[in-house]
Amino acid sequence: MKIQSFFDSVTATFTYVLVDEVSRHCAVIDPVLDFDFSSGKTGLHSLHPIITYIEAEKLQLKWILETHAHADHLSGAAFLKQKLGGKIAIGEHIVEVLKFWVPLFNNGDNTSLEGSQFDRLLAEGDEISLGALKIKVMHTPGHTPACCTYLVEDVAFVGDTLFMPYVGTARTDFPGGSAAVLYHSIQRILSLPDNTRLFTCHDYPPEGQREASISTVAEQKKENVMIHEGISEAEYVSVRNARDKGKAVPKLLLPSIQVNLRAGHLGPVESNGVRYLKIPLDQL
Ligand SMILES: [Fe+2]
Repeated sequence: MKIQSFFDSVTATFTYVLVDEVSRHCAVIDPVLDFDFSSGKTGLHSLHPIITYIEAEKLQLKWILETHAHADHLSGAAFLKQKLGGKIAIGEHIVEVLKFWVPLFNNGDNTSLEGSQFDRLLAEGDEISLGALKIKVMHTPGHTPACCTYLVEDVAFVGDTLFMPYVGTARTDFPGGSAAVLYHSIQRILSLPDNTRLFTCHDYPPEGQREASISTVAEQKKENVMIHEGISEAEYVSVRNARDKGKAVPKLLLPSIQVNLRAGHLGPVESNGVRYLKIPLDQL
């Protein structure tokens, strides 16, 4: 097994390519499509090195795995699938997320409420194959209702549950988010063996420090500033909720969520040949 990391500095997102070195099959976890809100321009700056890597290594893309419906970047899943193939998968609880957002965007005509825009909806305990590797699905909600952690050998791709120990955890103030629920999801991750390597989706390091994405269960238990060992659920919930109170809506939430709930499809072309994203007024 090999894992190659790619960092998109604009959205502070890590994308991973997980490789089964025997079959040369690979999975991409949380790919990013560039989006400049001011100009409405999408771009492939972030995807390009990933595509180049997969092609240069002669890998076969089998899975595009989303840890959740991201609110801070557009997913590159649809573009990646169109270019290299593979199946797009996300947690089955995405239907709860769809149920909230699709009516708000009034996008029922282009975004299935059942999640059929994804090739596979994953449930707690599901196992998917990548060559000889088995990727096990843990449902780890709290940041969003549909967040998943993907476990393979001694590695867990934890998405936005745990960040690096000096950052703490993800926010829980999105619709369907819950600090108490995230606390329990994180306890499940922290009950994995101490040497389990946790690959996080984002990093926001202190000024002057380089971004990093890998920690271990042991390090998180000892050092996580918000949820190290000994922190009770009540303490965590109070700290998390205080941090989230009054927090700004992420700049790319509205464009991201409508695209990501279409599994990365930008949306229908109108009669003039142009695609548009919607901005619902006074709804958040
Ligand atoms: Fe997120």
